[in-house]
Amino acid sequence: MNKSYSIVIAGGGSTFTPGIVLMLLDNLDDFPISRLKLYDNDEERQNKIAGACEVLIKERAPYIEFLATTDPKEAFSEVDFVMAHIRVGKYAMRELDEKIPLKYGVVGQETCGPGGIAYGMRSIGGVLELIDFMETYSPDAWMLNYSNPAAIVAEATRRLRPTSKVLNICDMPIGIEDRMAQILGLSSRKEMIVRYYGLNHFGWWTSICDKAGNDLMPAIKEHVGKFGYIPKNEQEQAEASWNDTFKKAREVYQLDPDTLPNTYLQYYFYPDDMVKKSNPDFTRANEVMEGREKFIFGECEKIVRAQSSADSQIKIDDHASYIVDLARALAYNTGERMLLIVENNGTIENFDPTAMVEVPCIVGKNGPEPITVGRIPQFQKGLMEQQVSVEKLVVEAWIEKSYQKLWQALTLSQTVPNARTAKLILDDLVEANKDYWPPLAEKNLQPSL
Ligand code: NAD
Ligand code: G6P
Ligand code: MN
Repeated sequence: MNKSYSIVIAGGGSTFTPGIVLMLLDNLDDFPISRLKLYDNDEERQNKIAGACEVLIKERAPYIEFLATTDPKEAFSEVDFVMAHIRVGKYAMRELDEKIPLKYGVVGQETCGPGGIAYGMRSIGGVLELIDFMETYSPDAWMLNYSNPAAIVAEATRRLRPTSKVLNICDMPIGIEDRMAQILGLSSRKEMIVRYYGLNHFGWWTSICDKAGNDLMPAIKEHVGKFGYIPKNEQEQAEASWNDTFKKAREVYQLDPDTLPNTYLQYYFYPDDMVKKSNPDFTRANEVMEGREKFIFGECEKIVRAQSSADSQIKIDDHASYIVDLARALAYNTGERMLLIVENNGTIENFDPTAMVEVPCIVGKNGPEPITVGRIPQFQKGLMEQQVSVEKLVVEAWIEKSYQKLWQALTLSQTVPNARTAKLILDDLVEANKDYWPPLAEKNLQPSL
């Protein structure tokens, strides 16, 4: 008989919580759970989600002990896994991350450019706090972290909690691989064995084979060169803004037809196009608040009122099943091959050994073992060196409370045209984030700027 596991979802009030709970409930045969807890620092928000989760659990697995709490001790005691997806500052701050840069004609995005930097400065403290709760109350547990911006958060955990059992992950490659599988007419992305390298939201596939070792890249490339990552008979059409992103992959791909790109590279290769198509008064945060947030909270309210999910439209977050794969790999030493964000340490031979890179790893009981990438071409190396420096400077700025380093980080971002614009954006971001960022010292006050 397998052991059954105790899990806490940190960021219990997240719009993704019900889908992940349904996904966990759908996988109980492979990954048994005896206790599921939700933790959030916003009690009111979490309670709305928790009420519905309680009904879902009662219907599907009433033996699971369920608890929603804002008390760290209660939440983090006696758990095997912490699944973390917090958003420090919530959508109100995401909206500002997106709108402030756009005011200056610069990309306004959740994880890329100045918006991602601002979000990083908020997330670092929140995620470190979760790690500390875990290590205080359940020192043997693993944290599976998908709180964004994962690149900056991962660098912060490397610098500040180097021995902690925390793994940073992202679902974007999986979402794209689902599309590749559809393009090829495969039943699942799991029929593909991939090689990929880069930073989080900044990487490339170099090889995609089937289980027999046949090269699938030529067929995918031919399609992406014409249609981007839009499959011909798409099973489920993405929202319009995501559809644009998948289409844009056609142009992103042209920069290096030897590889297949992560869609997030569009913000670095075509920032002007991204700005042009943005509405500075209604950004992705507004779309999410009007769409996913309203929908999820509305559905949860319905479930609670009816005390039944019979009429609910909430779906299993199927593509998030990689979270179960990762937990199972750690629990059962499955040796699953997965893309994770890990310290480079020679995996990419000609790249900073201390960089946090996203590469395939073999995952077992003792954590991930990265698969060697070897040497990478000058184009990717140059781009990654610039971007990883942005990410490292943000973490240094957070640690040292340095305005100067944060200004350097913004200036170095390929999305920002010059140092003056970087400073104007930064000064607005400092003001907007004063409740969340550490107070920054040694501000450069040269009036001539
Ligand atoms: P959301 O705002 O709906 O949920 C986030 C929750 O975190 C909120 O309930 C909020 O109260 C809570 N929270 C904020 N700060 C906290 C803290 N310090 N301690 C405890 N709880 C805190 O956001 P969402 O859109 O559902 O996204 C959640 C997170 O998941 C975000 O970071 C998002 O970027 C991330 N995400 C990551 C991936 C990935 O690929 N890594 C994919 C999807 C979403
Ligand atoms: C992808 C990325 C995540 C990001 C999300 C944004 O899933 O991997 O890191 O948070 O997209 O999606 P949204 O719908 O919130 O704009
Ligand atoms: Mn991601």
